[in-house]
Formats: sequence, structure tokens, C-alpha cells
Amino acid sequence: MTKTVTPEPRDGNAPTRIAEVDHGMLNAIGLANPGRDVFVAETLPRLRELNLPLWVSVGGFSAREYAATCERLDDVTIELNLSCPNVDEAPESAAAIVAECRKVTGNPLYAKLSPHAWDMGETVRAIEAAGADGISLVNTLRGLALDAQLRPVLARGAGGYSGPALKPVALAAIHAARTATDLPIVGMGGVWSGRDVLEFVACGATHVALGTVLFADPNAPSRVRAELAEEQSRIAVGTVARSDN
Ligand SMILES: Cc1cc2nc3c(=O)[nH]c(=O)nc-3n(C[C@H](O)[C@H](O)[C@H](O)COP(=O)(O)O)c2cc1C
Repeated sequence: MTKTVTPEPRDGNAPTRIAEVDHGMLNAIGLANPGRDVFVAETLPRLRELNLPLWVSVGGFSAREYAATCERLDDVTIELNLSCPNVDEAPESAAAIVAECRKVTGNPLYAKLSPHAWDMGETVRAIEAAGADGISLVNTLRGLALDAQLRPVLARGAGGYSGPALKPVALAAIHAARTATDLPIVGMGGVWSGRDVLEFVACGATHVALGTVLFADPNAPSRVRAELAEEQSRIAVGTVARSDN
């Protein structure tokens, strides 16, 4: 999964833009990236050399911008970042952006949502109707931390809160989404161990992704895989019952 790509190059927000806080971290990177043209010409060919399944995260400030980037991407899974807390978001609804992108690409198309969605079931149903092939949950929660002088640590003020504190929020969002759809769900938010992965799967995730843990433990992917294999042999994975709540 790449960092989100936008049409134009972006430096992102001014520093300080990451900070360690209780039970996780805050970031306000602001979608720093080289822009669509450089990404397609230089970054993507180098990523292809890895011979791994590639997921490209696409961002923008209008449905048209998202779709114009999707048109340029062959042979990758596309994840629409509809949930970055660190930039002013596109005014269109998530479903309208998915619909515009669906018109221009036959690639697998996932929609990444914020845990702030006021009604997860309704949002997910609208996105499915717009033609998404899957859902990614969750992006960060908005958070703010103060320094010793009671000034915000991040230059932007608030940022995205990720890491272990996000796990129960993510599990609830995934459970609500699974109640509303049979689409594949990529689950993330505070995954730290093999046991965490099993919990995400039990709540309805079909894939599980690692984020913040990589800052603390760059070997987390192989560690978590090994732990998962061991946990799986101990516990038969159940499924949390669907509910209307
Ligand atoms: C430093 C940092 C940068 C991130 N950049 C992006 C991004 O470019 N696009 C995106 O969709 N999510 C981005 N995220 C959110 C993560 O992909 C993930 O949804 C979130 O952090 C929750 O998972 P975690 O607790 O495992 O980190 C970023 C998170 C962090 C910590």
C-alpha cells in the first residue's frame, strides 16, 4: 500500500508533523507525495520491481481529480483515500467519488473510510451501490496533544490519532460495516500482534494491514505472521454475530 498520491506534488504540512502520545501517535503529514505524474513515471515502476501485489492509495480534492488518477493506474488495486484528517476534504460525498472513479477503471476499487462516519452501515451501503469492490477501515481519529507550555505539539494543531488506542474503534467500525455488506474489508487500526489480526478477522475483516506498529517494530509483518500462525492453532476463529446496533 502506497502513501496517498494526489494530482499535484505536495510538500505536506509544516513540521512538527508526527508525535508520540499515550497509547499511539499523532500525525499531520498532509499527504506529502511527488504528485501523480512523477508517481506513475518513477515510483510505480520501482515498486513493480518488488513483484508484490500493489495497492495504490489515491487522493484528491474533487471527484474528477480522483478519477483522473485512477485512469492512469493499470494493474494495481486502487484504494480511494476518502478520509484523510489532515487536509481539507473533497466536498463531494464518498459515494459520488466512488461512482466517478468506477466509470473510468475496471481495477479493484476500495474505499477507505474514517471512523468518524456517523452511520457506518449507511455509508458502506452507499459506497457498495456506487460500485466499490471493497472497503478499508479505518483511517485515523482526529486528535490533539499539548506540550509542556500547553501549546499544540503538531504545527497544524490537530492530527490523526493512530496505534493501539484505535483498535476498539476499528473493530466496532468493521463489525458495523460487515453487518451492512458482504464486500471484502481491509481492517487496520492499532494492529500489533497475531491475536489482534484474529480479532479483526472475527469482526469481519478479510485483509488486515499494519501502520503505526512499523514505526516501533519494522519487523512487525513477519513477527505478526508468526504469531498469527501460532494463535490460529490454539483458537478456532469465531465470528462476532451481526447486529443492528
Ligand atoms: C505517519 C502516517 C501516515 C499516514 N498516511 C496515510 C496516507 O497517506 N493515506 C491513508 O489513507 N492513510 C494514511 N495513514 C493512516 C493509516 O494508513 C491507518 O489507516 C491508520 O494509521 C490506522 O492504522 P494503524 O493504527 O495501524 O496505524 C497514515 C498513518 C500514519 C501514522
